[in-house]
Amino acid sequence: MNVEACTYVIFGAAGNLSRVKLMPAFYHLDEANQLPEGTKILAVGRRDWTQEKWLSEVRDMIKLKTKEAFDESVFKRFSQRLHYHLGDLQQPECYTKLTKMLEEPIFPKNIAFYLSISPADFGFVVEELDKNKLLTQQHGWRRVIIEKPFGYDLESAQALQKRISHYITEEQTYRIDHYLGKGTVQNVLVFRFANVMLEPLWNRNYIDHIQITHSESIGIDNRGDYYNSSGAMRDMLQSHLLQLLTLVTMEPPVSMEAQALHDEKVKVLKSIRPIPKQAVHAQAFRAQYASGVVNDEKVKSYLEEEHIPEGSITETYASMKLYIDNWRWRDVPMYLRTGKRMKKGQSIISICFRQPPLQFFHDSAHHATVDQNWVILGIQPEECIRIEMTVKEPGLEMKTRTSSLDASFRNSDEKVVDAYEDLLLDVLKGDRSLFLNFDEVEHAWQIVDPILQTWAIERDYVATYPAGSWGPEDSRLFDKDCQGWRTSLTPEK
Ligand code: BG6
Repeated sequence: MNVEACTYVIFGAAGNLSRVKLMPAFYHLDEANQLPEGTKILAVGRRDWTQEKWLSEVRDMIKLKTKEAFDESVFKRFSQRLHYHLGDLQQPECYTKLTKMLEEPIFPKNIAFYLSISPADFGFVVEELDKNKLLTQQHGWRRVIIEKPFGYDLESAQALQKRISHYITEEQTYRIDHYLGKGTVQNVLVFRFANVMLEPLWNRNYIDHIQITHSESIGIDNRGDYYNSSGAMRDMLQSHLLQLLTLVTMEPPVSMEAQALHDEKVKVLKSIRPIPKQAVHAQAFRAQYASGVVNDEKVKSYLEEEHIPEGSITETYASMKLYIDNWRWRDVPMYLRTGKRMKKGQSIISICFRQPPLQFFHDSAHHATVDQNWVILGIQPEECIRIEMTVKEPGLEMKTRTSSLDASFRNSDEKVVDAYEDLLLDVLKGDRSLFLNFDEVEHAWQIVDPILQTWAIERDYVATYPAGSWGPEDSRLFDKDCQGWRTSLTPEK
């Protein structure tokens, strides 16, 4: 693919995302010679920084991330791409000055505007860019990358979409869900659609239930303001976890083209059985972390974190059960959960198969039945694909145990590429397959809206869990006693 140079304009360049993800990702792309010659990265920021100061800031961001792998000569080359534009994105003047700056011949006319800013400003920034004719694709393409959350609920997402669609087309809009840029997440598609032996089993006849857990040992860091108005359901479940669910459960697309993938993902979201308000308690659970011990360190409760108002009931843990009402999945429960300050940071998709119709073997004196087969997809930090099978234990007795077939896809000498590297490059290529169409976002909000509305009204009580634990007791979500959250990548005993 012929990739042309572009100017990446980053709004919110001094913010957390840019520091931790974007700048290191650009640096790595440059190091791997993936950025087209002449590509520029123009940071827009409110701080009164000179070009030198900006370079030293970026240097620190990258050093922090790359540690010993930091390469002075790569940074020297990379720094030639970096520019700083002082401006307050809430002031129209910022855009007139930006327009002037972008007229300088050193800046390529293909421009990607990256909105790594407060969601409340998305609409205004797009409007201002339009007023200054920065979105007109006359001498090059113009694309706008919008970070999540896209909206706060269904209604606000629709309002935001209506507002920005006056100025940009769907093809110009790149709504990010960085989970889609993760190598293991893309591998879910390869695993499913390149291995014909799985397809006959991948349905309600053989699968008992599916569960997706994303746990984090970290708290909310310095994001108290954002997090308190968001909560775990909006922050992770509505976006990343529902996207994972679509990839695991969708029908084979007609091709791997962007539209074909979107079509299948949307079909899944549309088939999710709506949760009536009276069923919210049976299908969703929320909780907040109390103080506790994480990795041998005492940590504060959520309510003691900075910028958290007294008595906040924002959930830092959310779980839910969904059903996909289609031919393939009808009545197979899908359990999703996420939490901050849990015992361990990890994301796993676990697919549990049904029991054999007759139990001929017992795996030990304690188990009346043999273990079920599981397919475990470890997304992070350990990337793996494992299939658990029951085998006979060596010896005279007919005893069984679980053995795990490992189809992990990365060798120890193969580098992990950060999701943002992939996504930043896709924007340059104009490949939207790993970005969200508006209808996906809209359907995802439709699914969680009844839960959010119910929780918003019930303000008296929120359950807690000790920081450093595996979360609250929410077993009431499970359809059967034998189902429960799985936390381990290896066979559980
Ligand atoms: C972000 C959420 O979208 O994803 C964060 O806002 C969360 O709260 C993060 O920590 C998790 O991403 P990753 O890639 O670290 O699993």
